[in-house]
Amino acid sequence: MCAPIYFSYFIFFNLFFCCALCIVHVFHIFGTLSFAAEDQQVLVTEEEFPEVKVDFQETFLGHNSPISRCRFSASGSNIASSSIDGTVRIWTYDSSTASSRNATIYCGSEVSALSWECRSDRLLLIGTANGGIKAWNADAKRVVCDLSTSRNFPSILDLKCSPVEPVFVFAAASRRHGSTTFERTGFANLTVWHMKTWKPLTVLPLGEDPPAITSLCFNHNGKILAASATDGMIHMFDMSAGLQITGWPAHDSPVSSVLFGPAETSIFSLGSDGKILEWSLHNQGQILWSRDCSRFCNPESFKTRMHEIALDSNGKRLLVTSGLVRAPIYQVQGHESELRTLPHSSSITSVDWHPTLPMYITGSADHSVRVTSIL
Ligand SMILES: *[C@@H]1O[C@H](CO)[C@@H](O)[C@H](O)[C@H]1NC(C)=O
Ligand SMILES: *[C@@H]1O[C@H](CO)[C@@H](O)[C@H](O)[C@H]1NC(C)=O
Repeated sequence: MCAPIYFSYFIFFNLFFCCALCIVHVFHIFGTLSFAAEDQQVLVTEEEFPEVKVDFQETFLGHNSPISRCRFSASGSNIASSSIDGTVRIWTYDSSTASSRNATIYCGSEVSALSWECRSDRLLLIGTANGGIKAWNADAKRVVCDLSTSRNFPSILDLKCSPVEPVFVFAAASRRHGSTTFERTGFANLTVWHMKTWKPLTVLPLGEDPPAITSLCFNHNGKILAASATDGMIHMFDMSAGLQITGWPAHDSPVSSVLFGPAETSIFSLGSDGKILEWSLHNQGQILWSRDCSRFCNPESFKTRMHEIALDSNGKRLLVTSGLVRAPIYQVQGHESELRTLPHSSSITSVDWHPTLPMYITGSADHSVRVTSIL
């Protein structure tokens, strides 16, 4: 039970995947034709996804360089955003809900990960591209902890707080020479830390010289952690045992982002081939849903940064970052049409949904962060 169970259906997966894509493609043609006039045999491509219907949009212009991450706090009333010059800003989109947590934090190095504590808006964890982790107390407005990862693993690729326990996990990677984001990340170190003692608790086992972990996601009770890797694998860990329970090859290319589905019966993954797959957790290896978003997240755009995906509070809409000025919003459930966001003036580098409302944030290489409430 303790040993990782790897699936030996790789070939089967690929066959299945091709079929799944064909089916999706056919659906896509039927689905999209309904938008076009009947006498026009025009295939509506993703570029012509209808635009979202916007209730209101606020633009935050407090950064002076491209946005690396933006995240709603646990209550949704505070937003943390970071830019590649190493600045983190905490702000509110609604000036009527007077928040005193507004702040600017200078980290001195590119911010690569942000994670709010899950039970209050009090603590924000910040990970940097040179192996630093800071904990910011948003009420006291000060850094309460300033750590460095082990020298051998200087890049923080992702950082997540447990939804229940006072612990966080970070994925650090060693560095190597290379021309693309993925080539430059070497081996993984995945460590669980305590949020009161600020000391490491467990190093999650990944085997010898494991490929870098790019993204992390806890399930609702924090007992299971999903991690995506640059070798195309998704790994699942049992957090109480500190062991890997399963893992499977999900993409033929590095996986950029991983997310539990709404009922936690599935896992979404975004590959650097631009494919989004939803994996069943009951019938492991089965693909429940898939989309090709390579028009927005083309393999070329992965050379400079990883893309990310975000699910709305009901788990019905999936927002994806984009190398274009607009990002796609896919319908995971139901038959509503796929949508695209209002434009930024450059690519969309980070996305997140409000924890309860139909509202999302988009951070862009144009230095702005937009909060969009949709109808
Ligand atoms: C916090 O920042 C936001 C965005 O800049 C601003 O609208 C709001 O008024 C600020 N709140 C306070 C209490 O300063
Ligand atoms: C991984 O990182 C942790 C905490 O920074 C450190 O204690 C551990 O030695 C590292 N693992 C390896 C193999 O270096």
